[in-house]
Amino acid sequence: MKIHFRPAIVVVSLLTCSCSSVAVPRGVISELKVGPSIVEVSPSFRNVFPVKNFNRNVTTTWWETESLDESESTAAKTLQSLRDANFIVFDQGFYEVLGVDDFQSNKSVETIFEFPPGPSFANRLVHDGTVYSLECNCIFFAELHPPKEGFSTDAMPWVWRVNLNESTPVVEKVYPQPQLTVGNGAFYHDGSIYWAQEGNYTNPGGIVRMDPLTLETEVVLNNFLGHRFNSPNDVVLTSDGIAFFTDGYYGFDNFNDTLKPELANGVWRWDINTGDVRQVAGAGTGIWLNPNGVALSPGEDRLYVTARGETSADAAGQRTIYQFNIQPEGSNSPPLQLAGIFAYADAGFPDGIKVDAEGRVYGGVTGGVDVFSPGGQLIGKINVARGDVAVNMQFVDDWLYIAGRTYLYRVQLGTTGVRKY
Ligand SMILES: *[C@@H]1O[C@H](CO)[C@@H](O)[C@H](O)[C@H]1NC(C)=O
Ligand SMILES: *[C@@H]1O[C@H](CO)[C@@H](O)[C@H](O)[C@H]1NC(C)=O
Ligand SMILES: *[C@@H]1O[C@H](CO)[C@@H](O)[C@H](O)[C@H]1NC(C)=O
Ligand SMILES: *[C@@H]1O[C@H](CO)[C@@H](O)[C@H](O)[C@H]1NC(C)=O
Ligand SMILES: *[C@@H]1O[C@H](CO)[C@@H](O)[C@H](O)[C@H]1NC(C)=O
Repeated sequence: MKIHFRPAIVVVSLLTCSCSSVAVPRGVISELKVGPSIVEVSPSFRNVFPVKNFNRNVTTTWWETESLDESESTAAKTLQSLRDANFIVFDQGFYEVLGVDDFQSNKSVETIFEFPPGPSFANRLVHDGTVYSLECNCIFFAELHPPKEGFSTDAMPWVWRVNLNESTPVVEKVYPQPQLTVGNGAFYHDGSIYWAQEGNYTNPGGIVRMDPLTLETEVVLNNFLGHRFNSPNDVVLTSDGIAFFTDGYYGFDNFNDTLKPELANGVWRWDINTGDVRQVAGAGTGIWLNPNGVALSPGEDRLYVTARGETSADAAGQRTIYQFNIQPEGSNSPPLQLAGIFAYADAGFPDGIKVDAEGRVYGGVTGGVDVFSPGGQLIGKINVARGDVAVNMQFVDDWLYIAGRTYLYRVQLGTTGVRKY
């Protein structure tokens, strides 16, 4: 790592100081380096909160931590710096990710699209999917709301395409045929897009393959020996055609009371060459409720899997990225071995996850994107619009496209995605 000379500009300093009229508890040393778009946080700031008494609801962001004592005005200014920043740096390694020298750089997160309001029965619009196809030079996303009878087909959750052929990205709704039944996460493999689709009462969920140019779709997996999946959430494939996908309860409320879940939540392994389908992490590991995003490491020897738990408002919920080691083919070992907790998020839960060329892991959380070192250390945050949640991301060269609930953003980084196109 390069060592940069960094002038000691401390714009917000809460050092104990007799010159200030604001009483700051003794021993509290809080320090931020605040630039036009980047805030660098010192270890002491992270370790001792700048007010004596505080509390934070798990549904809120760090900078919305509530002050429970008198020093609120000073703290508010400090927390506002965090809120207003485009990037928060915890570790010097994050400057390499950002492709800048230090906190004095002015770097932006571009907003490139605002999603129009959803149908009257749904309160959110953007779901997941963010997947790039080289053939089409475009990114696909899925909408969230469940199909509802009595509404026009235009109110069904369709797919959106970000066309990158133009100098500015063009975002438009597209119409895969047959349409997806609540499309969720997706992965590009060998010329096709593989969607995890949640399904509904009439169309069991599973994996759907889509041609990125014609948008023709075909259901390629929809059961485990006659059991419907609960509602598949996200999928990745190794270069050899081994799919790992998550299955949880998220979409089961689309099914009304006629059907009940018949399988445990978990991670499934599906060999697209032999058709072998098996659960490789689940109730047996004792940790699974509502698994979500999946991502592979650069060497395809690790699988990262997120899980939410009951709800994202459940303080005792999971909010965790787990790491599994993938055993080589023919090793006669169980294919996935739980290595442990890779990271635990402080806000919401990591929904979509992506990996960069150096093996860092990016998680979409409430307020933005958390970036973790390959060892699981939080090195920085990329903030999105206030109140928005980053749902998933997609690298295209050195651009990271971020899908929020309401907006689509992009930021140019000093690294690329794990996949080279
Ligand atoms: C930083 O960049 C943004 C966007 O280009 C611009 O609006 C703003 O004025 C810049 N701030 C400084 C301090 O240069
Ligand atoms: C946290 O905030 C959520 C959303 O506002 C609320 O439903 C929940 O009751 C809060 N939790 C606590 C412990 O106050
Ligand atoms: C982008 O350009 C390529 C090459 O001309 C073309 O094949 C592809 O269909 C285009 N993508 C879209 C979304 O129009
Ligand atoms: C399930 O989704 C399909 C679209 O894929 C739709 O035609 C059908 O009406 C939906 N069924 C129910 C019960 O909502
Ligand atoms: C569930 O939906 C199906 C398809 O619309 C319908 O036939 C069935 O009666 C519904 N069950 C309940 C309990 O509403």
